[in-house]
Amino acid sequence: MRWGWGLGPIPTPFSGAGLHSRLAEPDPEEASLAKPKVFVTRIIPDGGLDLVRQACDARIWHEETPPPRELFLDQVKGMDGLLCLLTDPVDAGVMDAAGPHLRVISNFAVGYDNVDLPAATARGIPVGNTPGVLTETTADLAFALIMASARRVVEGADYVRAGRWKTWGPMLLLGHDVHGATLGIVGLGRIGQALARRAAGFDMRVIYYDPYCDAEKGASLGAAVRCSLDELLAESDFVSLHAPLSPATHHLVDAAALGKMKRSAVLVNTSRGPVVDGDALYEALVSGQIAFAALDVTDPEPLPPGHRLLTLPNCLVVPHIASASWATRTRMAVMAAENLLAGLRGERLPNCVNPEVYGA
Ligand code: DGY
Repeated sequence: MRWGWGLGPIPTPFSGAGLHSRLAEPDPEEASLAKPKVFVTRIIPDGGLDLVRQACDARIWHEETPPPRELFLDQVKGMDGLLCLLTDPVDAGVMDAAGPHLRVISNFAVGYDNVDLPAATARGIPVGNTPGVLTETTADLAFALIMASARRVVEGADYVRAGRWKTWGPMLLLGHDVHGATLGIVGLGRIGQALARRAAGFDMRVIYYDPYCDAEKGASLGAAVRCSLDELLAESDFVSLHAPLSPATHHLVDAAALGKMKRSAVLVNTSRGPVVDGDALYEALVSGQIAFAALDVTDPEPLPPGHRLLTLPNCLVVPHIASASWATRTRMAVMAAENLLAGLRGERLPNCVNPEVYGA
């Protein structure tokens, strides 16, 4: 066994030329000296941001893209709390730049591979995440990618937009059935299970690989059948990845794994880009080793314009939007704010990924 895993509208950034203009400084009238200082690395939905603004002396980064490293290190100095995104590498350097007052890191995501957890734990800093609320929304997108790939939805829309639609055609844009196909789920955590429920509604055969999931959980999903990774790769028409990124899952889907998949198979990734070896995926798509890839996540992320994966007709890439519904992002914002505020009050975070900081 190789592994075990143990936009809506963007508000306009502040105008002005300098880096400082992109930071919303707290209103001195409103900011009370008693309020904890926090750095929020992006605009998040109001439901959460308002909670933070009310309770904290908040410095907020207003750009669409993450704060550059040097600026991040500068702005985090003296902060009591940090509310960050999966696009912000939060390592020991950031924690040390913040200094000894930093008492909570709240990540606006369920995944927290951007945070150096051992470094936070060593400093006694609890790290929060937002599990649960994005499960169904993420599974919706994974299923949408399966459907879109199988039925050539994006290609069809492009075809019409390009003015190429001349008539109904018996051979036009033929795809593959989703119903009755075999779906292989790699990682039967919350999102994997939610995907399995959707697949059951489409009469798919569902198999899964998860070294940490007991057979009972799989069985409770009805027809989901546990198997080895090799069996899953060999039998699935659609392989959907739901493993967290860790050293054990980095490049879990490499050239060897792709070589075990059906030539007609579709790979769907809504987990983290580096779970797939991008170079190997490119080769597999070009050579026809697999038929199609539908990716919500990539490595690097974002893919630079002109990246070779974007030149392939059999590769569909969307910009890490699996949890991007208004309701879900609002719930994530509230959860991230609640983690932040609990940490600032010295209380246990409602969702803490390094509970060992509490000594239990
Ligand atoms: C997460 O939360 O980890 C997703 O990738 C984005 O919502």
